[in-house]
Amino acid sequence: MEAHEKGFFTEENSIEVVTGRNKNAKDERLKQIMDVVTRKLHEAVREIEPTQEEWMEAILFLTRTGQMCNEWRQEFILLSDTLGVSMLVDAINNRKPSGASESTVLGPFHVQDAPELEMGANICLDQKGEDMVVGGRILDTEGRPIADAVIDVWQANDEGFYDVQQKGIQPEFNLRGVFRTGPDGGYWFRAVKPKYYPIPNDGPVGRMLDHLGRHPNRPAHLHYIIKADGYETLITHIFDPDDPYIHSDAVFGVKQSLLATFRCVEDPGRAADYGFSGRFWEVNHDFVLARSKGAN
Ligand code: BEZ
Ligand code: FE
Repeated sequence: MEAHEKGFFTEENSIEVVTGRNKNAKDERLKQIMDVVTRKLHEAVREIEPTQEEWMEAILFLTRTGQMCNEWRQEFILLSDTLGVSMLVDAINNRKPSGASESTVLGPFHVQDAPELEMGANICLDQKGEDMVVGGRILDTEGRPIADAVIDVWQANDEGFYDVQQKGIQPEFNLRGVFRTGPDGGYWFRAVKPKYYPIPNDGPVGRMLDHLGRHPNRPAHLHYIIKADGYETLITHIFDPDDPYIHSDAVFGVKQSLLATFRCVEDPGRAADYGFSGRFWEVNHDFVLARSKGAN
């Protein structure tokens, strides 16, 4: 018997017996991960003491989660999101220097090939919703403007749907655009005020939330990916602090620093300047990028 052959499996020695079996793992990191996962899983099972039926229900839940996945739908990511794991992994991998803007989840509705637009363009292509103008600056941690930053924005419409969820109803690339900053680091575009929406909830994760007495909604937000040479890419949102779900985001993506101010403007002159016909919403939000590790 080799040293890692710890004897026969018992309820008491289960962790040592199973992790001991990985002694000859070909990948140290995999061994470390599986040792931790095995230990925590066995501890959970010991504490929960599931019945055979409960354990089978857990297995069927994961089976249904896998079966729900296809080219467009990633139910395991939704599971990770709703358990707060996506945000925890994001936090661990995006520890920022003081003053830099914070990140949050990417979400499933980003598309790679959104059009690059002139600054000030209106990303709302179907004229539905309450007009909004969004602007700000892209800065470094010393407050200097970053030129040539590429800002990829996308948002849901005033009914809480992304274009990709309503093909044939919304125009392609509705409420999406890519903008590039000039020497002043400034950006601005026109859009419509977004609305809260449910994450896809017609699958096992939606049922799980329902059984747990949780709603599936995300508070209204705009998504940003901001890239600039020499800086860490920032994947983030800004949120409407007055949204009814701001304190209960289904995926835990809200951070204090990501709350923007949505000001309602009733000024016919300014509205006309933007090509709006009446009152509109104004959002001003600067983003601060952290320097890439290794950049000087
Ligand atoms: C989103 O904001 O687009 C999103 C994030 C996580 C899960 C579902 C949607
Ligand atoms: Fe979203």
